[in-house]
Amino acid sequence: MRKPIIIGNWKMFKTSDETVSFLNAVDGACQQLEVEAGVAVPFVNLGLAKQHAKNLIIAAQNCHFEDQGAFTGEISVDMLQDLGITHVVIGHSERREMFNETDETVNKKMLKLLAKGLTPILCCGESLGQYENNETAMVVKTQIQKAFKGVNLEDAKTVIIAYEPIWAIGTGKTATAQIAQDVCAIIRQEIANIYDEVVANTIRIQYGGSVKPENIKELLAQPDIDGALVGGASLDPTSFLGLVK
Ligand code: 13P
Repeated sequence: MRKPIIIGNWKMFKTSDETVSFLNAVDGACQQLEVEAGVAVPFVNLGLAKQHAKNLIIAAQNCHFEDQGAFTGEISVDMLQDLGITHVVIGHSERREMFNETDETVNKKMLKLLAKGLTPILCCGESLGQYENNETAMVVKTQIQKAFKGVNLEDAKTVIIAYEPIWAIGTGKTATAQIAQDVCAIIRQEIANIYDEVVANTIRIQYGGSVKPENIKELLAQPDIDGALVGGASLDPTSFLGLVK
């Protein structure tokens, strides 16, 4: 049985005070959930968030693939691990579109995180144009093949994949549960093609894109959707608790 995992991606939101007040309101209520739950916090507030989270996973939103060096503005996996961070989002479409993240750098980050024993939350998903041209399957399969290049079978099982159609992010347009399910099934099949059925049945696939307390139940009821990566609706404590409960 795959345990569902719901992660709020805070993107560039919340000051330190706002981070603490969110966690004070939410963490205690997340003790005995049926799902794993957490938030991906901006770098500067990760340490603080860790101090105020007993039950929630605190994830980073990015990392660099080198151990150290002259990479101004970047954060290494060792630095994240120092803070007790266990999960890192990589390849988010906003980073691919606005910050030159490529399949190649995503793959390097994936390999580095796995080598250090952290859990990558690997994002994939097609643009509106690709969706309208019926290129979704091809786009996500290619992203998955490239991201998993050189990843061994045991490590592959630990990766969390987040399918996020770009046209559904922050637009209020959720993919229907059926569309999300169909693409997540394609992704799982691609994992089976690269590895085997055991890996495919073990790996968790989240859906992301305008997930809200009102639609999460139907999405998570789909056989190939094992959780959600949530932007806007994860920022408010009541809404976040609505998602995880
Ligand atoms: P929204 O939930 O705001 O659409 O954002 C989705 C997302 O990008 C999560 O990573």
